[in-house]
Amino acid sequence: MSEQRFVLAGVMGWPVAHTRSPVIHNHWIAKHGLKGAYVQLPVQPDRLEAAIRGLPALGFAGCNITVPHKVNAMQLMDELHPQARRIAAINTVVVQPDGRLLGVNNDGIGYIQSLRDANPGWRGDAGPALVLGAGGAARAIVVALLDEGVPELRITNRTLEKAQALKDAFGDRVTVVPWAERNQAMAGVSLLVNTTTQGMHGQPALDVQLDDLPASAMVSDAIYIPLETPLLAAARQRGHQTVNGLGMLLNQARPAFQAWFGVLPEITPELRAAVQATF
Ligand code: ATR
Repeated sequence: MSEQRFVLAGVMGWPVAHTRSPVIHNHWIAKHGLKGAYVQLPVQPDRLEAAIRGLPALGFAGCNITVPHKVNAMQLMDELHPQARRIAAINTVVVQPDGRLLGVNNDGIGYIQSLRDANPGWRGDAGPALVLGAGGAARAIVVALLDEGVPELRITNRTLEKAQALKDAFGDRVTVVPWAERNQAMAGVSLLVNTTTQGMHGQPALDVQLDDLPASAMVSDAIYIPLETPLLAAARQRGHQTVNGLGMLLNQARPAFQAWFGVLPEITPELRAAVQATF
């Protein structure tokens, strides 16, 4: 009988101390009785290439990639998943059996799954969506929403050029809305998503008014600390279905774990509690 291999994975970023990924993956390693570990990989930007190239030599099954390496790490991959190519950033590296590096971005599908966890009948083609923000998180969410068939995707951002760049990249279904018109742009949407940093712990609340948002619209936030941002609290008080950013974080981790450890893990109340205990 061959002995079970010790599988290594981790999260590469600078800094990495804040990430919750070790809690998630080590919970699943223990739960499934696997031999392995998921470690922090603090890597300065000027050592990224050496660190990435060292993964196969060190016997890593792969790693997550976080700020500020998501774009630069992509350039070092041997292969890219199509959605990672469209997002133009990766959040996961999978070391293939032959040592080649596959770059994946699960942030977008993780986001979509978090909507489906809240509403199993959720459909992208149900109506227009409004995305607040145009940074890295927005890009993954925009690509995933377009891939789900959202008929019209409005993007508004404090810096208009960054919203325009997303329209230039993704085309006809994308509309750019000046930040000053963000409240009126809520009229008729099925989904509102905040991808800005406003409302995050230590940041001021996002400055928006929900009066024009249809009662049926779902409201989501990519932020998970706090779990209920001022935006989500206001939306809940108006009776909207709300989705916080924890589901996106947990759901992006599932396929990565499967790629490295060979088991598709579940998101259980115990896992949520373990992650929330770190907040
Ligand atoms: P992430 O990777 O989390 O998306 P990011 O790429 O730094 O982070 O993007 C942060 C987003 O929050 C951007 O859309 C940013 O707007 P700008 O492009 O104008 O910088 C948005 N943001 C940050 N501070 C903001 C503020 N005070 N008001 C409105 N939007 C803000």
